[in-house]
Amino acid sequence: MNLCMIGTGYVGLVSGTCFADIGNTVYCVDKNKDIINKLNSGRSTIFEPGLREMIKENYRSKRLFFTSNISEALNKSDIIFICVGTPSKKNSLSVDLSYIFDVAKEISKFSNKKKIIVTKSTVPVGTGDSIEKILKNKKKFTVISNPEFLREGEAIRDFRYPDRIIIGSNEESSFKTMKKLYLPLINKGAKYFTTNRRGAELIKYASNAFLATKITFINEIANLCEKTGINIEDVSLGMGSDVRIGSRFLRAGPAYGGSCFPKDTKGLVSIGNKEKIDLSVVKSVIKSNEKRKKLLLNRVHDILGKNIKNKKIVFLGVTFKPNTDDMRDSVSLLMVPYLHNRGAKILYYEPTGEKKEFTKLKNCKYYNQIHLVCQDADLIILHTEWDEFKSLDFSKMVKNKKFKLYDLRNLYNHSEMSKNKIKYFSIGRPVY
Ligand code: NAD
Ligand code: UGA
Repeated sequence: MNLCMIGTGYVGLVSGTCFADIGNTVYCVDKNKDIINKLNSGRSTIFEPGLREMIKENYRSKRLFFTSNISEALNKSDIIFICVGTPSKKNSLSVDLSYIFDVAKEISKFSNKKKIIVTKSTVPVGTGDSIEKILKNKKKFTVISNPEFLREGEAIRDFRYPDRIIIGSNEESSFKTMKKLYLPLINKGAKYFTTNRRGAELIKYASNAFLATKITFINEIANLCEKTGINIEDVSLGMGSDVRIGSRFLRAGPAYGGSCFPKDTKGLVSIGNKEKIDLSVVKSVIKSNEKRKKLLLNRVHDILGKNIKNKKIVFLGVTFKPNTDDMRDSVSLLMVPYLHNRGAKILYYEPTGEKKEFTKLKNCKYYNQIHLVCQDADLIILHTEWDEFKSLDFSKMVKNKKFKLYDLRNLYNHSEMSKNKIKYFSIGRPVY
């Protein structure tokens, strides 16, 4: 099939490339010309394991094209996927749909023959109805919802082997077309689930909010573990062995971040507010997650003392999770400036390179080697669980023998650290 992906970011680029890889011809469009130029010169615009090679192969095979000429891409395609951002509005819970509506206006201007318009972006209930209103000649278009469930860092695997493919449409005929498109994945075991358009829109928000709730729940239990001398890992394992609960997304950590859980939990509350439905559980989750970030900072003061002026604090990893370069809503965006503004010297190592978010901070320095960044540390904060942080020999790397380690991802344990006389703090585990 001929497909057009509008928006070539984390979702549009990955899903466009993966659709090309299963035999479709895909036109990826972005209004940002730098993105298109970079992709056309063989470079990837995001860090996602395996993606660069896959782009190269499909580009060479002429199944994958990058362009900023939207009219040409639209006219060559049968199915148009809208993959633009749906961020929270500034200082508000509600979702900024301006990018979605701009795309709908472009489609109504340029498109020639009958097409299926698919929202892959995460959009509030009723957005498909609004898109339909924007598309002047409704007969030419069928607007459906096909929410995306991929995770950054695991995006290619998640695309190829999804648990389910959700198609929401008010027209039966589009279920058949979409099934044909997804057949290679359905044949490998993906569940194909159809519902109406609004149903699919809500399934996406409800799924993200539920996962955020699960994480927040285990994070609060971790707080209780710290007070009661219990190991959170045991609790997660013990709970997760019940198949009704499930073991995944029960890893206690710093607070959920990333481009989706924070904005989508807020978005769901705003959908509820609009319909006068009190989504009190989701509201508490948002509050608890915010509170958790402050709790981490208090913990840093417990470890280093109230006065942290000139203390050398090292961050290992600053992205919100490993295997991505994405900084959106990473906890480090709050922790680094807070500690910096109280006089600490911040040093960080990050596998995906220096981050523009920290360049304005005077005493915040990026290092490209782990052993160099760690050598004079007073405190090392293990922020992101990249594989390369999993078996470090801290006692060899750090010259200051009084340094402390705050492991926000529980990659190490107290007994191995105490053997090397390292003062070790982690999440939801007894403090010795
Ligand atoms: P992103 O910001 O990485 O990419 C969006 C792209 O759209 C940008 O490159 C931007 O330049 C482009 N764009 C904006 N307006 C445009 C227009 N009029 N024409 C052409 N291009 C335009 O966003 P993302 O992370 O890929 O997320 C996109 C959507 O998918 C969001 O709704 C998000 O919630 C959802 N989603 C994201 C993920 C994820 O892992 N990031 C996973 C599932 C769902
Ligand atoms: C999440 C969902 O998992 C995807 O299904 C969804 O498509 C996507 O949001 C989206 O809508 O954009 P993503 O944000 O890429 O994917 O990453 P996750 O692996 O879900 O992690 C999100 C946050 O939760 C991270 O900060 C991570 O560290 C944290 N987390 C995750 C935990 O603290 N504990 C866990 O057990 C799992």
